[in-house]
Amino acid sequence: MPKSRSRLACISGIFVVCTVAVVCLFIAVFTTWRCSIGQFHHFAVAADSQMCSDIGRDILQQGGSAVDAAIAALLCTSLVNPQSMGLGGGAIFTIMDKSGTVTVISSRETVPMRFKQDLLKKCPTNLTFITGADWIGVPGELRSYAKAHHLYGKLPWAKLVEPSVNLAREGFPMPAYLGRLLENDNIKELVEKTSLCQVLCRNNTVLRPGDKLRYPRLAETLETIAKDGAEAFYTGKIANDLVRDVQDAGGSLTLEDLKSFKVRVTKALTVPLGDYKMHVPPLPAGGALLSFILNIMQGFNLTPASVIGDQKTLTLHRYIEAAKFANGQRRKIKDPFVHSENVAYLSKMSFADRVRAMINSSSTHTASYYNVTPGSDRFGTTHVSVLAADGSAVSVTSTINHMFGAAVYSHRTGIIMNNELADFCGRADSLSAGEQPPSSMAPAILHTEDREKTLVIGGSGGSMITTAMALSILNHLWFGMSLEDAIKSRVVFVDSKNSVMFEEGFDQVLIKAMEARGHTVQRRGYFFNVVNAVMKEHGCISAYSDIRKNGRSAGY
Ligand SMILES: *[C@@H]1O[C@H](CO)[C@@H](O)[C@H](O)[C@H]1NC(C)=O
Ligand SMILES: *[C@@H]1O[C@H](CO)[C@@H](O)[C@H](O)[C@H]1NC(C)=O
Ligand SMILES: *[C@@H]1O[C@H](CO)[C@@H](O)[C@H](O)[C@H]1NC(C)=O
Repeated sequence: MPKSRSRLACISGIFVVCTVAVVCLFIAVFTTWRCSIGQFHHFAVAADSQMCSDIGRDILQQGGSAVDAAIAALLCTSLVNPQSMGLGGGAIFTIMDKSGTVTVISSRETVPMRFKQDLLKKCPTNLTFITGADWIGVPGELRSYAKAHHLYGKLPWAKLVEPSVNLAREGFPMPAYLGRLLENDNIKELVEKTSLCQVLCRNNTVLRPGDKLRYPRLAETLETIAKDGAEAFYTGKIANDLVRDVQDAGGSLTLEDLKSFKVRVTKALTVPLGDYKMHVPPLPAGGALLSFILNIMQGFNLTPASVIGDQKTLTLHRYIEAAKFANGQRRKIKDPFVHSENVAYLSKMSFADRVRAMINSSSTHTASYYNVTPGSDRFGTTHVSVLAADGSAVSVTSTINHMFGAAVYSHRTGIIMNNELADFCGRADSLSAGEQPPSSMAPAILHTEDREKTLVIGGSGGSMITTAMALSILNHLWFGMSLEDAIKSRVVFVDSKNSVMFEEGFDQVLIKAMEARGHTVQRRGYFFNVVNAVMKEHGCISAYSDIRKNGRSAGY
């Protein structure tokens, strides 16, 4: 009796083991299989170019964290898109650790101590480039990398810098996007007439598509930073050289500015958004305005039906109205370290409710109705989204502000300087030392309560960031579009004078309908909205880099 019982136990034991094995196998096959072609299972990086997304992915493959990958991809981007960002700029990281805690690390440039008191009087009213050393803010870029790496890094710092040292030294073929920009007459002239020509010209003429792009000086700077750490930029020989070059160009940046620059580590601004929570950086970044627009739109109970038939016209009109009201709030975006005015209401639903009630379904109003002070719009910046295998994520936007920043090239260090102080133009009446200028940057992380779905998203394109992000998020979250379609979809941009501009290819019938409702529709030849995003849902990862900037994502 005991014998047969033990045999029975043995048989049922084998049965249990077999069942577990079969179930495991099934789950393994099923989870590998169920993601679509082009999706990833483990991690992904969406940067502005294939080369930089690949570098980020390689870092993850070597056991690096999401922050490690983001830093490596950013350093690479400073070479591929030197017009957008670099060591001479600033960055804002929104970081979610694997437990779901979100932290913002901002090294947005600040006003130097000896800034020009009458600077804002020089803000141009037309669209000329705002160049020259007077506009340079204290470059914080590397200090935020160092802070983020210190808090969340896994690989040694040098490993993150090395791929870019090699690229800078050996050079690489002119990226198609940069090649196209340099063929533009205005940009060609900007480069050829300024110190930028020292790095982007050959024989005093801008490099052309097919030429090799090389950064020998920057390679040395990067090598020192790889070896000695980011502090070498702020206190050592690099700092001395940089300050000398900026002062030679007529700027007032000092060693003291560099040494005393402080990274801001804060909690994110967290906003409920339907089934999601959205984490964005606090003021003076653009997250508050983004959430303001999304909150207004959310109250219209959007579904995929909202973009079909007649509803489509109404939804578009409502979005444009929301964007106009957001323009009216632009001047509220200020550095909270300097300005004490409480503008927490901006991201509150109660405020969005009040504003939504002011939207008329069939007509629009003059600028004063929205409290808009006309300004001008500028474009630049880059974004990297990373999602790691452990669920941690990084959404980081980095910039030297306008295209090629101040157009001041530091020949001793190979660094192109920002013109971040130009962000005060049209949005502030004064500035003070240490102040961060207002920004549209809004690197975001969204997730459902259970984090079954995570969306890491951000945009570039200066004033166009808000539109680029708001529309992508609306398209994906509420209108049921895939991440790729959500980003590819043609955009409407409401400029800071409340003129409405449609990207080429936008539905003409809708444009006519907007004109009929009284919107001032203007033509614009160029759109600089770019969104790079990574999304994870049910264990499958989609990553998409905007083709508007020839972007490609990478993952595994
Ligand atoms: C813009 O205004 C400046 C003066 O503020 C003038 O020198 C320049 O020619 C103008 N540029 C264009 C393109 O209108
Ligand atoms: C540089 O430009 C000059 C004048 O345009 C030309 O004569 C010369 O051949 C060019 N040199 C090279 C290396 O392209
Ligand atoms: C909306 O605008 C139309 C056209 O200007 C006007 O006739 C109507 O009264 C407005 N509706 C509301 C609720 O204000």
